[in-house]
Amino acid sequence: MVTTRSGIIGLTFLFVLAGCGQGSDAPEGETKAAASTDSGAQCAFESTKDGSPLPIKAVATDTPQAKEFLKTCINPYTKLYVADPEAAKEGKKKFGYYSCTQCHGGNAGGQTGPSIIDERWQYAKHVTDKGLFETIAGGTNLGMMGWHQQVANNPEMVPTDDILKIIGWLRASYQGGGATPWLD
Ligand code: HEC
Repeated sequence: MVTTRSGIIGLTFLFVLAGCGQGSDAPEGETKAAASTDSGAQCAFESTKDGSPLPIKAVATDTPQAKEFLKTCINPYTKLYVADPEAAKEGKKKFGYYSCTQCHGGNAGGQTGPSIIDERWQYAKHVTDKGLFETIAGGTNLGMMGWHQQVANNPEMVPTDDILKIIGWLRASYQGGGATPWLD
């Protein structure tokens, strides 16, 4: 039994190796074409400051959720956290870790900075996760700095995945009335 199983694993391994060999034999042109198709599917972010392009790139350390968001503009944590308050605590933890609490309060209900869990949005686009991401990642002209590590050019700052977890928690904590387009 054990021998058979390891035999199968060995065979699979050989197939994978063979596959890799073929891949690296491919002409360089093909690889480039595949890469440019991929970047064509990127979500196009705009700075909240002036509407200019906000280039956030996928990086090797990105989680699958971050990669998905950068391609589709859909934050996979939002529906997950709204359905599961226990899971949403992960986003709250990040909100505290990066000291967002200092201006927005421990539950994001507002302090020197505005509440992020009521229906009064500073910018209309904040009803989408893409819009909220643009403001957190790139900052605004009125007191919000850009927190994304690529915008701040500082690896200690916030990676894409942590911003998405924070947004998911903010959506799960929403106390305003009316429509919730981020769940559409
Ligand atoms: C130094 C104070 C300060 C800190 C720290 C801070 N913010 Fe802000 N934030 C503000 C201010 C001020 C605004 C309003 C900006 C505007 O109107 O242009 C704001 C706006 C926002 C908004 C839009 C709110 C709305 O109702 O539309 C979000 C989302 C947000 N901040 C998230 C965060 C997150 C996430 C962090 C931590 C990574 C953070 N902020 C840290 C001051 C702060």
